Amino acid sequence: MSTRELFLQSKGYTTKWEKYFDVYDGVFEKFKNKKITFVEVGVLNGESLQMWRKYFNPDSRIIGIDFNPECKKFEKNGIEIFIGDQSDDKFWDEFYKKIGKIDILLDDGGHTNTQQIITTVKSLPNINDDGILMIEDTHTSYMQEFGNPNKYSFINFTKKIIDDVNFKYPNLGNFKVSLNNYVYSIQYFESIVIFHINTKKTNINKKIKNKSIDNDIITDFRYHDSIVPKLLKNKIIYKFRYLKKYSFIKFCYNFISKLIIYSNNY
Ligand SMILES: C[S@@+](CC[C@H](N)C(=O)[O-])C[C@H]1O[C@@H](n2cnc3c(N)ncnc32)[C@H](O)[C@@H]1O
Repeated sequence: MSTRELFLQSKGYTTKWEKYFDVYDGVFEKFKNKKITFVEVGVLNGESLQMWRKYFNPDSRIIGIDFNPECKKFEKNGIEIFIGDQSDDKFWDEFYKKIGKIDILLDDGGHTNTQQIITTVKSLPNINDDGILMIEDTHTSYMQEFGNPNKYSFINFTKKIIDDVNFKYPNLGNFKVSLNNYVYSIQYFESIVIFHINTKKTNINKKIKNKSIDNDIITDFRYHDSIVPKLLKNKIIYKFRYLKKYSFIKFCYNFISKLIIYSNNY
């Protein structure tokens, strides 16, 4: 049965954004018959958790998290409820210590930047390979009542994760806090961001050859008409990278590298 059909069969009052059902069916289908651990942040009156209980394999673990202690009463039909604040690092540390790794986390909690960012940072390392972190209602990144638009909105944070994922390519950059050992790909829908986790597929990429003989290849014309791109092609600037530890040389190195790259792009 589709998530939409299950939703319409819910006994108590519940609401969801209509476009979410296609997204749910698209990404959750592959988990349907597996024994998984599914976590939803935001329990409210528990209807959504009942829907997930019916949707996934009956042996799956279905867990709800909410800040409201009253939600504990929805701990029935094998559903587990944890009371805690999704913007509290310590809550997540204790949660994952107790539960272990999970397969899916669906965040339908408070939807503030901090709540979404902390949930993401603390959960990505605790999701199994081929698992999913889905953050809902990301339109809040553009809403005044959530303190946005803002440099530190959740959506702007995800743009940094795009950089982080691309920084896997050697020497492009790095962040002090990096998630690129976990995030294999990111999917964007209206109001939803999905992170696909895979710690094996996030290894450093390498170019492979189909055969060892390469004397029949023709000239790559990317570099045919200028000396500057030739320097880049021959990677001369990369040969002096070890000098970067000296700050003035590092500054000059960065400046010249950028000049070469800009002139190349220009
Ligand atoms: C949109 S409702 C959840 C609806 C539910 N997922 C459904 O589809 O029926 C949001 C819930 O998030 C909870 N919440 C708000 N801030 C939270 C926080 N900081 N940590 C955990 N839960 C929070 C609220 O108590 C509320 O029950």
